[in-house]
Amino acid sequence: MSNILYFETLDSTQTYLKEHFSQLDDKTVVVADQQTAGRGRFDRKWVSQLGGLYFSILLKPNKTDFLANLTQLMALSICQAAEKYGIEPTLKWPNDVQVNGKKLCGILSEAVAKNGHITCLVLGVGINVAQKDLSHVGQPAISLCELGVKTSKQDFLQEVLALFFQRYRAVLEEGFSIIRPAYKERFPYAGKQITIKNGAHVLCGVAHDLSPRGTLLLQTDSGKQEILIGDLLV
Ligand code: BTN
Repeated sequence: MSNILYFETLDSTQTYLKEHFSQLDDKTVVVADQQTAGRGRFDRKWVSQLGGLYFSILLKPNKTDFLANLTQLMALSICQAAEKYGIEPTLKWPNDVQVNGKKLCGILSEAVAKNGHITCLVLGVGINVAQKDLSHVGQPAISLCELGVKTSKQDFLQEVLALFFQRYRAVLEEGFSIIRPAYKERFPYAGKQITIKNGAHVLCGVAHDLSPRGTLLLQTDSGKQEILIGDLLV
């Protein structure tokens, strides 16, 4: 399946793949036990202490129409891997996985472009596996270990990769609609009052639905809006 490279310490698995993508094969996975400069969405820092599962996947797709949906496929795959251990995670659009409102993992997707064309995608994942102190996270967070899940980082990674690559080709070809029913089943925000924050831009409304292309449909006072990117806050 995938070629997996393991490191004890890296600055960031994401940065490693972005710097070495030209020498590496499609679907190469880079894993680090800890990262000294882990990065999150919107240029946030991702503290990466021992105990967490930190990995990035290099993807060199021949079709780039549905790249944004691959992060949603990854979030769903992590949910479904965790469900095998009897817990019931939910999805916080677009790609956070939560348990009881606490963050279990984060996903960062970055495109590498050459001459204005996307040549590859680097999908980075940080999953709280064995950490017992997540007070640095800046929002409620939880680890698999705190949930009583007994797994190794290695086993959990294999389960997530298997679930992801089972549907990778289909999502690449056909987009979010392939996973929409499974994603919606785990999306508890429909019908709820939410806030979407994108930098300084804040929008409030009722989460109406997820569109067939994976965007969030928000009913606001000024009508229905389609949200492409942002942080969902309750
Ligand atoms: C988020 O902001 O929620 C996304 C966090 C993504 C963190 C992962 S850990 C592995 C990979 N390497 C990084 O530097 N970031 C991603």
